[in-house]
Parts: sequence; structure tokens; C-alpha cells
Amino acid sequence: MAGGGFAAASANGVEFEAKITPIVIISCIMTATGGLMFGYDIGVTGGVTTMPDFLEKFFPVVHRRVEAGVDKNKYYCKYDNQGLQLYKSSLYLAGLTATLFASYTTRRPGRRQTMLIAGVFFIIGVALNAGAQDLDMLIAGRILLGCGVGFANQAVPLFLSEIAPTRIRGGLNILFQLNITFGILFANLVNYGTAKIKGWGWRLSLGMAGVPALLLTVGALLVTETPNSLVERGRLDEGKAVLRSIRGTHYVEPEFAYLLEASRLAKEVKHPFRHLFQRRNRPQLVVALALPMFQQCTGINAIMFYAPVLFDTLGFGSDASLYSAVVTGAVNVLSTLVSIYSVDKVGRRVLFLEAGVQMFFSQVVIAIVLGTNVTDHSTNISRGFAVLVVVMICTYVAAFAWSWGPLGWLIPSEIFPLGTRSAGQSVAVCVNLLFTFIIAQAFLSMLCHFKFGIFIFFSAWVLIMSVFVMFLLPETKNVPIEEMTERVWKKHWFWGRFMDDHNDQVLVSGGKSNGKTKVEAEESEKEVVNKP
Ligand code: BGC
Repeated sequence: MAGGGFAAASANGVEFEAKITPIVIISCIMTATGGLMFGYDIGVTGGVTTMPDFLEKFFPVVHRRVEAGVDKNKYYCKYDNQGLQLYKSSLYLAGLTATLFASYTTRRPGRRQTMLIAGVFFIIGVALNAGAQDLDMLIAGRILLGCGVGFANQAVPLFLSEIAPTRIRGGLNILFQLNITFGILFANLVNYGTAKIKGWGWRLSLGMAGVPALLLTVGALLVTETPNSLVERGRLDEGKAVLRSIRGTHYVEPEFAYLLEASRLAKEVKHPFRHLFQRRNRPQLVVALALPMFQQCTGINAIMFYAPVLFDTLGFGSDASLYSAVVTGAVNVLSTLVSIYSVDKVGRRVLFLEAGVQMFFSQVVIAIVLGTNVTDHSTNISRGFAVLVVVMICTYVAAFAWSWGPLGWLIPSEIFPLGTRSAGQSVAVCVNLLFTFIIAQAFLSMLCHFKFGIFIFFSAWVLIMSVFVMFLLPETKNVPIEEMTERVWKKHWFWGRFMDDHNDQVLVSGGKSNGKTKVEAEESEKEVVNKP
């Protein structure tokens, strides 16, 4: 989910001189902690909500229902509770709101300060959660964690994409996703261990989020601001000095000139959000709205948030449920590696389309097994079928992890032209958190009402999004980021018509800026990228 801005330090495939310096390595550790924190929050609550002590303290109604046993309860509805869902989803609502502020703070105080703000939110949020005495305190903690996610998810990837040498920027981008999956797995493992601690195991689970939170905060204090951000704020000498130290070379003139020019051009786009809605940006905007939405409509977070609850609902028992969640978490991590390896070789579309078939197939199998084995009042799922469900869930998670997981973030960050890249990225983050919120809030009720049909529901979405990919998502593999318009959008059978020069507006909102027409402005954008 690399951020936008004028982060594209590579131009038309031209590489600036750059070594992989210690500062760049520290940045990788930063990515790890930002992603870990987000992933930990995604993974931890599912396990915690199957812990009886936690339920008894905060959700006594659900606790009584779960304890009452199978016969008196509707199987699929054991955990259906608005409060429980709000506990989960409040984080994403807060994150969504914070993203709007984060696009300001990343521009003004800068990327580093924004990460610091995120770290402080995380630490206070974790403290409130681990020490929670009542539901209000618990939800207040989740809201603060959400603010942390909003700031961190905007600033960390932006920071990384600006500080990394071009040749490792793509890899670092998916590395962020890899760390999200590590965070989820770490949370599942912690839950598996703490579930055995009577009384306060859940506090330990929630408190362990403090580890990535502290690392992120200390990291933000240690690292330098990005040269792009310094130049953007007029601190040119400092920007050049930082560029020299991170690139490990004194000769940074070409890249510095590029930064100055990119900054000038980005400033010309006075209203990036308004610009985003112009006709010639329509294709990118549609893709940036559709991809994060579709990513959530795969149903992945039904599994990531609620795997232990889901397995418990199926009658696996608490321990086996937590164990199965660890297994799916591990599959998620390993399959993300497949994506890192293959995304620039086989391309985005192949990964999407293959994964579409795999996800559709596994969801339909899960629906059939559940439909024939789990009734409203009991489950008579045999060991063999239970194993089949776990295997199919793993098959599904694997497909997601090498397609929609990383690519749902990667593609929105690489399709926009310079002037709207940052705004486009914020839109993608917002849409992602909005739909994550909707799934978090609705899943347990949907499970209760749709029953096994929930998997058919998500498989229908997988079908729709695969058709979208097939016809409307162009391949962006190996296309330099600044050549996307010419080589991808203008050549596309459908989107090409939006690139019609006669209908184009000028680059800068309001029809003119510095007297430049769109063509002139685009020419100067090309000059910039060709400069070195
Ligand atoms: C998604 C998260 C999801 C995670 C699973 C991310 O790309 O945005 O919502 O939980 O992948 O690995």
C-alpha cells in the first residue's frame, strides 16, 4: 500500500544513484512495525472473544448464550451481538475518520511526525484496552487504536516509498502487507497461549499490541524525515543533506532536481480531490474505488476477524478453534511470499484470475459442507468434514494472500499520475477502511441470518470482481509508474475513451494555471521524469 505524493523517484525506468544504506534498513523495520500493528489489531479480537472470562466481563449476554450449550441455542447465532460487533468495528470507523486528518498531517508536520502521532495513539489505546474495567473503556481504547491505524497506514507506506531506492520500492510495498499477515499470525499465536491463563489471559493478548506500538514510536523518533517532505515544506538544504545521507552518495543532483520539479508540479494541482473527479481521471478513480471495496467483499475479514468464533460456532471447541486460526494465519503469511515472488513475473491479472477461481471453488465447497452438516440447533459435523472445512478455508486464504491482499493496495498506488497520486491513495485507504468496518459490524449478524449461505454470498462477489478484472482491469506489470497513462489507460479498449485528448481538461483545476494547457503541463511532467 505504498503511498502516493510525488514519491516516484524513478522516472521512465531511470535509476538514480542509491545504495541500500542503514537508514533504508531502519525504514524496513518501520514498515514491519506499522504493518504488524495493523495486523495485530485485525487478528487479536477474534480469539479474545472466544475467551469466557472476557465475554463474561464485557458481554455477559453472549457469555450466557455460549455457556447455555448447543440445544438451547441457534448455532449460527451464538455470537450475534451488536455490542460485540461494535467492539470490533469501532477501530475501522475511527481509522476512516483519522485518514482524513492524516492526509493533512503527512503534508504539513510531515511523515515522521504523523508516525509519531500514530505511535502515541497506539500506546494509549493499548493501555486502555489491556486495563479495561468496562465496555466504555474497551471501546475507547479501540477508537484510539483506530486513530493510530488511520495515521500509520497513510504515513508509513508514504515514508517507505519515498525513502526506498526505486529498485526495491515494489518489494517494500508488498512487504508492508507481509507484515500485516505477520501481525495477524502473531496475534493468533498469542491468543492460543493466553487462552490457557484464567482470568487475565485476554489482558495479556490485548496488552501485547504494546510491543509493535512501542517499536513504531521509537522508530519514528529515530528516523529522519523524508527528503520529499522537507522539499515540499521549503526546507531545501536539509532535504538535500538527508537525500545524501540516505542514498549513501554525495552526488544526488539529478534526484534532487527531480524532487524540486515534482514538488512544483504537485503544488500546481491546487485541488487534488477536485482534479480526481475530472473525466480523464475517471478510470483510475473507478479502479481505486473498486479494488479496496472488492478486496473486502471477498469476505477475507470474516475469516481474519472471526476465524476462532467461526470454528467454535461449527463445534470445534475453544482450543481447536484457536489452533485452526493459527493454521490459517500461517497460510496467509506463506502465500503472501508467493505474491512477492510472482507479481512482477506473471503479472497482476493472472494472480487475480487464478485466485478468483480458487476462492469461488473453496467457498462453494464450504457452503455445501456446512449446509449439509450444521443445522440451526446443532452440528453433527464429522471429523473428516471438519478437516475439509479447514482445508478449504486455507485454500481460500492462500488465494486471497497472493492476489487481493497485496494487490488491493498495490494497484491503487501505481495507477495515478503525479498530481492526483496522493489524493487517489487516500481515497483507496478510506474505501478500504469503510468496507472493513461494514464487514466487521455486519458479519456475525449475517452469519446468523444467512447461515451457510454467507459463503455463497461472498462467492457471488468473487465472481463479480473476477469479471471486473477480466474486462476492466488493465495489466500494470513492468510499466514505469509515470508511463501508465500512455501505455496502459490510453490503450485500453474501454478506458481509452476517457483519455480522449479533445475532452481533456487542463491539468490544473479551474482551466488554467501558469497559463499551461493540459498538453503543456503533461509535457513538463514528461520533462521532469526524463530529466536525469
Ligand atoms: C486487508 C485486510 C485483511 C488482510 C489479511 C489486507 O490486505 O486490507 O483487511 O485483514 O489483508 O491478510
